[in-house]
Amino acid sequence: MKNLDLLKILIVEDNNELLEILNLLISHQFDVSMNIISAPSAREALLILENQSIDLCICDHQLTDDLGSDVLKYIISHKLKTKFILCSSYDPESFPGLYPIEHIFYNIKKPEISEGLEVLLSKIHLLKDFKYTRSIDYVSISVNLLTILGKAPSDIYYVNEKNEYIKLFNKNKSIDLADKKLIEDTYSNKIYTKRDANNDHIINELNKSISNILASEDIPLDRKISATHTQLKELIGCTGITPTMAELTKATLKEVVANILSEKKILLNVIQDNQSDNYASRFYTLHSMIISILAKKTDWDSHQDIYKLIFCAFVQDLSLKSTSLMQLIDHDDFLRRISEFSPQEQEDFINHPRKTIEILKSFNDIPFGVERIILEHHELPNKTGFPNELDSKEISQMGALFNLSGIFARYLLDKGNQFDSQEFLKYMDLKQFDRGHYFDTYSAIKSLFLTSDSSFRFPL
Ligand SMILES: [Fe+2]
Repeated sequence: MKNLDLLKILIVEDNNELLEILNLLISHQFDVSMNIISAPSAREALLILENQSIDLCICDHQLTDDLGSDVLKYIISHKLKTKFILCSSYDPESFPGLYPIEHIFYNIKKPEISEGLEVLLSKIHLLKDFKYTRSIDYVSISVNLLTILGKAPSDIYYVNEKNEYIKLFNKNKSIDLADKKLIEDTYSNKIYTKRDANNDHIINELNKSISNILASEDIPLDRKISATHTQLKELIGCTGITPTMAELTKATLKEVVANILSEKKILLNVIQDNQSDNYASRFYTLHSMIISILAKKTDWDSHQDIYKLIFCAFVQDLSLKSTSLMQLIDHDDFLRRISEFSPQEQEDFINHPRKTIEILKSFNDIPFGVERIILEHHELPNKTGFPNELDSKEISQMGALFNLSGIFARYLLDKGNQFDSQEFLKYMDLKQFDRGHYFDTYSAIKSLFLTSDSSFRFPL
């Protein structure tokens, strides 16, 4: 890039929603004068590279027609100056023949796209061959992207006849069909966001959508778990669980997932669930994170114990087909909502701990003690759970830890950012989780809440 004024960026991405988000993220994060061009396929990317001089090519690996490596191959064989950035859930190291490392300028790993763009920008700054101040403060956003986000990620503007930017919507306004029609009919889809101090907010909003899109895409399970992990870090910020604690669980989680991946049946189950709804992977991951944190506080923190508990988190609802059954907080919640479920679903729910154990029998290398934890995973204090109506002393210690952390995870997913620790404490007291083998886990959760200022949100 010699004597460059305008940075020319080509984004090659076949997912239209991601393409739009990438476009907006770059527009907001980059402080260079630039021109962004998009290509939804390898073929279109090659046409653009043939006719225009491109400085940066940010390219996905798996495209509908060809691979990102075909775009790189063109750049190399035509000796173009274009710097190639792989933006994918895959590492270029996984395909050394396709992506020779010396020709990769940088690798943005999905879903951490905005973090990747930040590093990319610092690498561009080092080149010092372009103007890095921008005069354009307003960035175009499509009505399609606003609809995907469901709300305005920042204040939204239109341009009047005098070429002035006039505010149309406030930040966070929810976007409905009437808004969509208004933008299309009255403003011909020409609306804008503003680059300013609110950048962090807009980037956070876009990040959430990236995680959602990737979690629903057919990407490898381990990457899906990682996307979910990123998403959940924000959620657990309101519980007193620190980001460091959350990161600590990632290694064990990866190990369990790698082992579970070898068991095709579980893989299929998780993927099928996630294709229609992302609840399963969010729940398993959050449950695992909470288990790891509480296990440390309750002295069940040997690697073997944590591995076993996380394994159980991933297989607990193996025999359940319906996500809405998985979402039930506890047995009382099931009884309260029983009319919503068909007789078959009701039977499936009550039998799923036993059925899951049956399925697990066909697997190799099940850690010792898994069966008991799975069998007990819907028991509650005072004999109000199922299937064996155990009291708080009859349940195993590990089972108690597993159950209460599972309830905590489902409760958190249900409440989202409206989660209130005081309400959950009341719930635990009401259900008498302060007894028997539940007591240690109950106290560990309580101590998490006590150490966090309720008005404080961890910077995630
Ligand atoms: Fe369950």
